[in-house]
Amino acid sequence: MKIAIVGLGYVGLPLSLQFSRSGVGVIGLDVDPVKVKALNEGRSYIKHIPDEAIAEQIKPGRFSASTDFNRIQEVEAIIICVPTPLNKNREPDISFILQTGRSIAPHLAKGAVVVLESTTYPGTTDEDLREVLEAGSGRKAGTDFHLAFSPEREDPGNPNSQVASIPKVVGGYSPACLEKAMAVYGHAIKNLVPVSSCRVAEATKLLENTFRSVNIALVNELKVVYSAMGIDVWEVIQAAKTKPFGFMPFYPGPGLGGHCIPIDPFYLTWKAREYGQNTRFIELAGEINTSMPEYVVHRVGDALNSRKKALNGSSILVLGLAYKPNVDDDRESPSYVLMEMLSKRGAEVSYHDPYVPVIKLTREHPHWAGRKSVAWEQKSISPFDLVLIATNHASVNYEELGAWAPLIVDTRNVMATVSTKPGQIWKA
Ligand SMILES: NC(=O)c1ccc[n+]([C@@H]2O[C@H](COP(=O)([O-])OP(=O)(O)OC[C@H]3O[C@@H](n4cnc5c(N)ncnc54)[C@H](O)[C@@H]3O)[C@@H](O)[C@H]2O)c1
Repeated sequence: MKIAIVGLGYVGLPLSLQFSRSGVGVIGLDVDPVKVKALNEGRSYIKHIPDEAIAEQIKPGRFSASTDFNRIQEVEAIIICVPTPLNKNREPDISFILQTGRSIAPHLAKGAVVVLESTTYPGTTDEDLREVLEAGSGRKAGTDFHLAFSPEREDPGNPNSQVASIPKVVGGYSPACLEKAMAVYGHAIKNLVPVSSCRVAEATKLLENTFRSVNIALVNELKVVYSAMGIDVWEVIQAAKTKPFGFMPFYPGPGLGGHCIPIDPFYLTWKAREYGQNTRFIELAGEINTSMPEYVVHRVGDALNSRKKALNGSSILVLGLAYKPNVDDDRESPSYVLMEMLSKRGAEVSYHDPYVPVIKLTREHPHWAGRKSVAWEQKSISPFDLVLIATNHASVNYEELGAWAPLIVDTRNVMATVSTKPGQIWKA
């Protein structure tokens, strides 16, 4: 069997490798020629995927990368893993999906299976993508080609997360579409979970991500409330999670980051409006989570104040730019919001992140581009007035940090097990 995977990012690349390892021929298609070149040379551009994992599949020729969408005619199935961001008005931007649909439609073979994996609102697959595919190919979904949605459940940076063993939800445009899509995934994924439609599968992914957003907002709110009462929310969560049923721990932080949790729930909010429905939980969770950097900056001000210093003119090191530990993904990272807010208040801001040596140019934060991670050594860390821990990378030596930094604001409770001086650590 030969398939194409479109979009070779955090989702598409591990999926391509998993299919290839299972003996399926994979053409990886991407619009980015730099990624395509790197892959064909056996090089990875994602920290947690080693070069060898790619070279092992490229060398025997089972996996190859290309920018040429004509190659769609060679394959029996196409899996789409392109980005689904929000536009500047915070509305869904499915243009990458539609563009991919337009690129593949003219080359769609009869009987081919098209599966969308990008997170999106219910109706994208059977309305928006179907229309583009049918118009561009002159073929009908459900009769001439098969159409399905199957959400990705990638957990980047989790060493125990294996694409093959994570159960995969699949919904088809018709029962035959479901059957064909299940047969494709059956080559590479152990446990498939069929559902009755593309829309149910799309809605499942949105439930999963909204569940995280709402629960993170809950602990973020409790962090602020308990802190005012002199209670440490981290200790409370530790105790609560000993309950063997009906509780699942979520942890507070400086705000939400990444390509999924801060964005996906708003896909549902937007679509719900078409049906006259409000998504109050999603809005409230969004409000609380986006207010977290403000709270953290307030705590930074209090910490400096305890040393008779002002934010204005203080030198602050933000520790961790990635939105979560042990990954190099800084998309939507609250660290940037913190850096922005601190420098607006007159602080001199620097950062250290072992996985982000230099800040790349992005649309959202162009003026930070080119800034370099401060070296991890006493002579460069000690002079900072304050270190703000935004991400708890495991490779950072927190004992050294405790010994070097005069004042630390900790949003991840990572200093809890380190010996420190009274008044040195401020939780936020
Ligand atoms: N990163 C995650 O942990 C994660 C988890 C679950 C779901 N998702 C969802 O999966 C989708 C992809 O996310 P990602 O993190 O892999 O994104 P990504 O930005 O890492 O990768 C997307 C890739 O698609 C390519 N691309 C863009 N437009 C294209 C086009 N028209 N044709 C071909 N390639 C194109 C880009 O060059 C990039 O390589 C999103 O919908 C996201 O919400 C992501």
